[in-house]
Amino acid sequence: MKIAIHYFSGCGNTAWVAVHAQKQLKATGHEVVLLQNIEQAFPEQMPTSDVDLFISPTYFFDIPANLIAYFKRLPMVAGRKAVFWSVNGGVSGFSYTHARNLLKDRGYEVIAGGCVEMPDTFLFLKESQLTPEQRRGRLEKALSQISDNLKIIDVLPKQKRENIFKVIIGAIVAFPYLLWGRHVLGLSFVARSQCVHCKKCVQDCPVHAIAFGKDRPIWRTGCVGCFRCINNCPVAAIDFSKYAFIFGFIGAIICAVFLGILAPLLKIFAIIFGFLLGWFVGAFVFQKWFVHFADKSLCLSDRKRVLLTDEEKDL
Ligand SMILES: Cc1cc2nc3c(=O)[nH]c(=O)nc-3n(C[C@H](O)[C@H](O)[C@H](O)COP(=O)(O)O)c2cc1C
Ligand code: SF4
Ligand code: SF4
Repeated sequence: MKIAIHYFSGCGNTAWVAVHAQKQLKATGHEVVLLQNIEQAFPEQMPTSDVDLFISPTYFFDIPANLIAYFKRLPMVAGRKAVFWSVNGGVSGFSYTHARNLLKDRGYEVIAGGCVEMPDTFLFLKESQLTPEQRRGRLEKALSQISDNLKIIDVLPKQKRENIFKVIIGAIVAFPYLLWGRHVLGLSFVARSQCVHCKKCVQDCPVHAIAFGKDRPIWRTGCVGCFRCINNCPVAAIDFSKYAFIFGFIGAIICAVFLGILAPLLKIFAIIFGFLLGWFVGAFVFQKWFVHFADKSLCLSDRKRVLLTDEEKDL
């Protein structure tokens, strides 16, 4: 069978899964086209295949926004078979349902879904708790999840029903994040004074959400939450700022009260809308004019960055 693998990877986990899937498929006699990370892939030049395997990390219970855009750009096909895998830290949430619906809209018949659990790249407010041995154990488990998921490709079964509660909870987290959270998240990042101005973060951001300001990077809206900038900075200069939260929170309260008074009939909607808008404005103001507070204001300073080591990559 000829299989095309499409993937996006923020920090390397999904790339690792895609490469291992390719190896295992080739070893069992399949022909595989590994489309480069979708940042460089042009869907209009897609090769023909019997099955398309889409592999995505899960961020905030959903697939990342740049992958959603990629799915929407795919050329229409008539009943081509597709399989979707979520690469995550244990909770795929709304990812599979969302991906399946988007692929169906492009004419795909989504025949199966799978999960591969990897060491978590989510650093926000928590440190990676895994020891090197636990990380290795998780990678070995991931390898066997990959081979189990690939058996499904050989059999091409009918789709299983998803747990509806998992999907609903996933959607409750995923949609507010897609609509609002991702525009605020990047505005909370800062580069501290140890930044050596290499501009790697600017060049590597998959959605160009970072620009270079006068003496350090500045973040714009539209971050997809991949954490590549944080994890890849050669001097670990990038972090979250508590001040971004303080500015956001103050902005949110002011705006919520103001709109609540202005629109008494629609009070609850006005307050919620005001809160979200005010938070965004507060974070924006922080990012534009107050990032020099950065060095005094970190939520995550000196925490470990979590990328696969060279040894783990070769596993
Ligand atoms: C911002 C962010 C949000 C995440 N949200 C989830 C989540 O909702 N559920 C989950 O299981 N893992 C979550 N993770 C963990 C990632 O899915 C996991 O680390 C994945 O392997 C990352 O793949 P990548 O290195 O290809 O980006 C999150 C990671 C990040 C950076
Ligand atoms: S990658 Fe790090 S050191 Fe390089 S410009 Fe960005 S913040 Fe500065
Ligand atoms: S700003 Fe950082 S976390 Fe956001 S999309 Fe760009 S590289 Fe990823």
